[in-house]
Amino acid sequence: ETNNSLIQSAPEKYDHFMASLPLTTLDHRRIRLYQGFWIPEDYLRGVLTIQDHFASRPNDLFIVSYPKSGTTWLKALIFATMTRKKYPFDQNPLLVYNPHQCIVYIDKHYSLGRSRIVEAIPSPRVLSTHIPYSILPDSITGSDCRMIYVWRDPKDVIVSLWHFAQKVYEGTPNLPSFSESFELFCEGNSYFGPIWNHIIEYWKESKRKPEKMLFLKYEDMLEEPIKYARILAKFIGCPYSEAEEKQGVIEQVVDLCSFQKLKDLEVNKRGSGTILDGHVPYAAFFRKGMVGDWRNHMTSEMAQRLDGIVAEKFKEAGLEM
Ligand code: A3P
Repeated sequence: ETNNSLIQSAPEKYDHFMASLPLTTLDHRRIRLYQGFWIPEDYLRGVLTIQDHFASRPNDLFIVSYPKSGTTWLKALIFATMTRKKYPFDQNPLLVYNPHQCIVYIDKHYSLGRSRIVEAIPSPRVLSTHIPYSILPDSITGSDCRMIYVWRDPKDVIVSLWHFAQKVYEGTPNLPSFSESFELFCEGNSYFGPIWNHIIEYWKESKRKPEKMLFLKYEDMLEEPIKYARILAKFIGCPYSEAEEKQGVIEQVVDLCSFQKLKDLEVNKRGSGTILDGHVPYAAFFRKGMVGDWRNHMTSEMAQRLDGIVAEKFKEAGLEM
């Protein structure tokens, strides 16, 4: 199914096309089913514009994730790795800017009609997106751009998503309870969901082209952050030298990006930024930063159900957890 002939470049045509797609609501946000994924309407406009107009550059690096899978941390690690020689650690911009200010979402800028901001970023660009692999434009998938994808246990993702929505939509009446959100999540009815297809598509691509796509798991990174910081640096083409290894530079990068360090910064305690449909306090991006908080939110039956769905989909796709 292609939308290109329908939408061309006029925004009204996107609206017309969008109105033809299946619609539901989540946290009072309208989401549309587009090419197998549920995408918030305000983001979909950006996704369609990206499909039609995004021009990649061969040295672009993409940070990709399903929401609430560790994007903020990955952004911080990449930014700190790339800037480690430019700034002393006590002067790194991450100390005064939220990681999402340092590495921007193309989805958001294109949705807001601000593609020029993305185009004005000097090369080599580091950009991020939540767009599923099969929905990315050929300009990205057919290019030499490298990508880093982070995924996370879906049980912890739904817990993190639910808390995030509670903060972002605070004061909105009738927000769904955790069990209502969980139910929808299990049906695939979540932002950029179903989550399993989001993960599977990137996983498959990383197996096909490992030199182009680094596929990481949040839980592994939390267990061995130094090891993964080393892998990240190598993948993006700025590996640690022997001298840096001896001087403990990797440890400094990891410390700068640690959950507690970032959470305690003034900018992340009191600052805020915009998302498409409102304002988000940066504190909402730093909640617990741990593995297994799902145990405090769901029964073992619920956990088994979601695990079962995900395991079956992975198996069908020929991927082992
Ligand atoms: P929790 O809500 O489980 O605490 P995203 O960045 O993709 O929006 O994901 C947010 C999740 O990553 C939140 O999970 C958040 O606490 C966690 N997180 C944010 N910064 C982190 C860091 N520096 N280290 C580890 N986890 C982090």
